[in-house]
Amino acid sequence: MRTSQPQTIYLSDYKVPAYLVDTVELTFELFEDGARVHSTLELRRNPESAEASAPLELDGDSLKLESVALDGAKLAASDYEDRGDQLVIRSVPDRFRLTTVTWIEPQNNTRLEGLYKSSGMFCTQCEAEGFRCITYFPDRPDVMARFRTRIEASKEAYPILLSNGNDVEKGELENGRHFVTWEDPFPKPCYLFALVAGDLVEKRDSFTTCSGRDIDLRMYVEPRNARKCDHAMDSLKRSMRWDEEVYGREYDLDIFMIVAVDDFNMGAMENKGLNIFNSSCVLASQETATDIAFQRIEAIVAHEYFHNWSGNRVTCRDWFQLSLKEGFTVFRDSQFSADMGSPTVKRIEDVTLLRTAQFAEDSGPMAHPVRPASYMEITNFYTLTVYEKGEEVVRMIHTLLGPDMFRKGSDLYFERHDGQAVTTDDFVKAMEDASGRDLSQFRLWYEQAGTPVLTVSDEFDAGPGIYRLTIEQNIPDTPGQTNKKPQHIPFSLGLLGQDGQPLPLQLEADASEAPTERVLELTEAVHTFDFHGVEAKPVPSLLRHFSAPVRVRYPWTREQLLFLMSHDPDGFNRWDAGQRLAVDVIQSLVGAADGSEVEPRLVEAYRKLVSDTDLDQALVAKMLQLPSEAYLIELAENADVPAIHQARETVLKCLAHALRNELLACYQRNLETGAYEVTPEAIARRSLRNTALAWLLVINDEKGRTLAVSQLNQADNMTDRMGALQALVNSDYEDDRRQALDEFYNSFRDDPQVVEQWFSVQAASDRAGQLPDIRKLLEHPAFDWKNPNKIRSVVGAFAGQNLAAFHNPDGSGYDFLADQVCRLDDSNPQIAARLVTPLTRWQKFAPAYSGPMKSALERIRDKDGLSRDVYEVVHKSLA
Ligand code: ARG
Ligand code: ZN
Repeated sequence: MRTSQPQTIYLSDYKVPAYLVDTVELTFELFEDGARVHSTLELRRNPESAEASAPLELDGDSLKLESVALDGAKLAASDYEDRGDQLVIRSVPDRFRLTTVTWIEPQNNTRLEGLYKSSGMFCTQCEAEGFRCITYFPDRPDVMARFRTRIEASKEAYPILLSNGNDVEKGELENGRHFVTWEDPFPKPCYLFALVAGDLVEKRDSFTTCSGRDIDLRMYVEPRNARKCDHAMDSLKRSMRWDEEVYGREYDLDIFMIVAVDDFNMGAMENKGLNIFNSSCVLASQETATDIAFQRIEAIVAHEYFHNWSGNRVTCRDWFQLSLKEGFTVFRDSQFSADMGSPTVKRIEDVTLLRTAQFAEDSGPMAHPVRPASYMEITNFYTLTVYEKGEEVVRMIHTLLGPDMFRKGSDLYFERHDGQAVTTDDFVKAMEDASGRDLSQFRLWYEQAGTPVLTVSDEFDAGPGIYRLTIEQNIPDTPGQTNKKPQHIPFSLGLLGQDGQPLPLQLEADASEAPTERVLELTEAVHTFDFHGVEAKPVPSLLRHFSAPVRVRYPWTREQLLFLMSHDPDGFNRWDAGQRLAVDVIQSLVGAADGSEVEPRLVEAYRKLVSDTDLDQALVAKMLQLPSEAYLIELAENADVPAIHQARETVLKCLAHALRNELLACYQRNLETGAYEVTPEAIARRSLRNTALAWLLVINDEKGRTLAVSQLNQADNMTDRMGALQALVNSDYEDDRRQALDEFYNSFRDDPQVVEQWFSVQAASDRAGQLPDIRKLLEHPAFDWKNPNKIRSVVGAFAGQNLAAFHNPDGSGYDFLADQVCRLDDSNPQIAARLVTPLTRWQKFAPAYSGPMKSALERIRDKDGLSRDVYEVVHKSLA
């Protein structure tokens, strides 16, 4: 527990490690009341360190030191200093062997960092700084060592004992205990260390690599989850093949293992050869997981697998470089998902997340560059900016270089830096060297925080037939950064003629064969582009595919947006035009009198969409989704959430009333005939019919209610069951809602992953999730304060998705959240700090809301013994 103010750590203070570790030998004696960790490190002075006589400093956290020995000789207490968070030995030789024995208590570890217990099994989470909770070690990613790990435990309680690499020895011990020894031939930073011990079932498969090596694939899960492994295993094999084909990356060990654990702070972890997953991000069956979960699992399995090269073989020099592995790996998993399904739909999903949540982060008090310059607590920087904006930065390099040069660049990067701990700059350098392009200005994307705003204006000169576009870029100030330099922005666009045809983009008067889509490169504060040979004023299709993470301001007319919605050859921009139109219509109704008219052309555009059977149905399903409340708030200033909620409801209800017959027809047309499949087509069908159902229930349609009840009872899969449940929960049919929720719970009460969905469908609903309901959910026997998924599914869903209820003008939602943050701060600071997020945005809201939000933050700030995690978020938010 913290007693003094947390320190800020700066990138500019980086120094190479004073000591390097060549090998690590660990022995874990696992017991019910704790674990003894024997560690032997082969250490030597780093020849590159300037500090020739630096003392040896090893990190440690919550460790009980039992003994220390240097080259076999036990040290006296006066030979070392146990500072609590560091073990310091003043005088050591240039090369030596250090042995420590520590005692830890995994069974009491509620922070879920280091070694802890989850549903009776032992497991680890070491990234970013969890290894220091296991044993004393230079806990930084630029110290890479070879690990040998022996695990000893009761054979009956823990028949499965796992760590990184290959199992090289196993045997029986006294008192019903046994051991297994693992050896990882690849040097790695300690954040990639993992250990698992439990009574788990093993699912086996195999994969033959491009060079003909057979890899043993194994999944370890609790026995009740044995039927939920196939999808992850298939996803893994697809990922392995894809990485060979698209990036030329072959797997390097003989075994690849995946473990599912119920208590996990994040989604999953790429430990070398032993990936550990949050159960909800890996286990799936038709009966228990929705389509969204299936897709998320495929993406996360791929993400963790891809880290084996982008993260493990080439890792980060320090934690400021986190986006080196995360931005690149998110880009890779996103390309993979696009290849497995619909690229346009995947792009829409990624951009929706980016614009809703990352843009909000980038304009709030926690805004930071993709490569932050400072932090107090690194786990607070596993952010949308580092991951998702980091992905966009890599994507822009891909756009600027083209796929072939990008591949040359990634090949060079992996070859040049294999086995090293490097920086984002090394990544960019490899891309430059392979392609011959100058990315010096582009590097600002890593250094400057804030979302660039592009203001676009146009004029048409009929005489010479010139269409002129002027694009101005501005990067808003963010905490600690003002007066920013213009960035290098790839800006993809097309122009549409009045008949909807794409026009050739002639940037010079005499260019004969001009393309109909171009990537313009913006580098100055203002650019002007003249397009020649244009006969009539065209409609611009700007920032196609969302070619850069920026906001585009252009004075769209509703006419133009409707035109793009039906003519733009870029599917992404078709969708985006629909979103812009819907945003415009909803915004115009915020605070308007009851009974104000909803733009009839929007209604007709949606009528066309609901009935459109020619267009890609997955795209139609996306186009039908109205912009979320969260996105509307992000776009607003002085947001009044209940008013925004009201305006959006007005549009939704108007659409549902006007399109009732089309919705019923859409529902019927998309009814399943064959067996359940997880293909893009089947997913689109389910999405369309569940959207139709949801809309019908928003207006309490009787026919809709009958359909929902029978779908709920007859569905053979969770997508349809959940679709029906959600529609009923969000209707005014109170009795049906109650009954549906009760029956659902009784059918799935033994399945934690389904119970989480059951919690969140209520917590996220303004009908079923008002504060008194939320308090009841917290009292429910299935709720568990020690399980992050349960906390997220109730408290997180309420504050993050049930916005009208959370922003109750009486301030009760904010007080509630502050209470839960304070309660969790002692047991799991990482989760507590994440939960604060909705409050950090207080300055975005109208004074009636921002005042109480700020008071709630102040209340958290004043809690005794605040963790470093929450301290950083709260203090930066109030600064
Ligand atoms: N590297 C993991 C992933 O991207 C995330 C681990 C995050 N851990 C943490 N303590 N913040 O997949
Ligand atoms: Zn990752």
